[in-house]
Amino acid sequence: MSPESFIINIPLFHTLSPEDRKRLASSIRRQSIKKGETLFRKGSEGTTLYVIIQGKIKIALPSMLGDEVVLALFSDGDFFGEMALLDGMPRSADAIALEDSELYVLNQSDFVAFLNSNANAIQAILRSLSQRLRKTDDLLQDTCFLNVSGRFAKKLLELAEENGRKIGDEIEFDIALTQTDLAKMVGASRESINKELRTLREKGLVSVQGNTICIHNLTRLKRRIK
Ligand code: CMP
Repeated sequence: MSPESFIINIPLFHTLSPEDRKRLASSIRRQSIKKGETLFRKGSEGTTLYVIIQGKIKIALPSMLGDEVVLALFSDGDFFGEMALLDGMPRSADAIALEDSELYVLNQSDFVAFLNSNANAIQAILRSLSQRLRKTDDLLQDTCFLNVSGRFAKKLLELAEENGRKIGDEIEFDIALTQTDLAKMVGASRESINKELRTLREKGLVSVQGNTICIHNLTRLKRRIK
């Protein structure tokens, strides 16, 4: 697909006029990244905005001991890397590919030109920043006030809501995440998530087959959020 026709499908670029879309498409370049590769690290200089054509990118904060907490997972059509361009500071987090991914890359001057030529674009960026801050607020609240069982149940329900297929009273979703990834998303150890999953299976609340998780009882899973 040409950059121009792909751009139409990206919410951030929805409101562009055909001429602006053409201009943006001509300044955008493509980049591939393999599963497990790091696109950039927290603290590095940031001069580009990324839009995911296809794939999955994890945004994470590293600890001194080599652990990390996952702030966000981005997939097809999402953008990231805007913060360093907007405030001129270094990258605020690591960006790592969870799958082989294809990206569009926009440099800083083209991003600024895009914002300046389009008031709707500024609104779209502000809306995304608000939504991301809201999610991070939720993460902070959950980390402070919920135990691991509650945080994990909430994350499973969130993943089911975003990616799930309803089958009768049950809901099933595919995840390309390891238990370690899941643990990092809820600020817990892999061991405790492994234990949680085992408990949920024994109680008949969920079952796991390969990369597919099936939630058998939404009501009882919701009750664990406390
Ligand atoms: P930047 O700071 O340039 O590089 C890291 C990127 O991760 C950042 O821009 C945002 O695009 C994204 N990011 C940083 N913090 C969060 C967060 N709390 N929620 C979602 N995305 C984030």
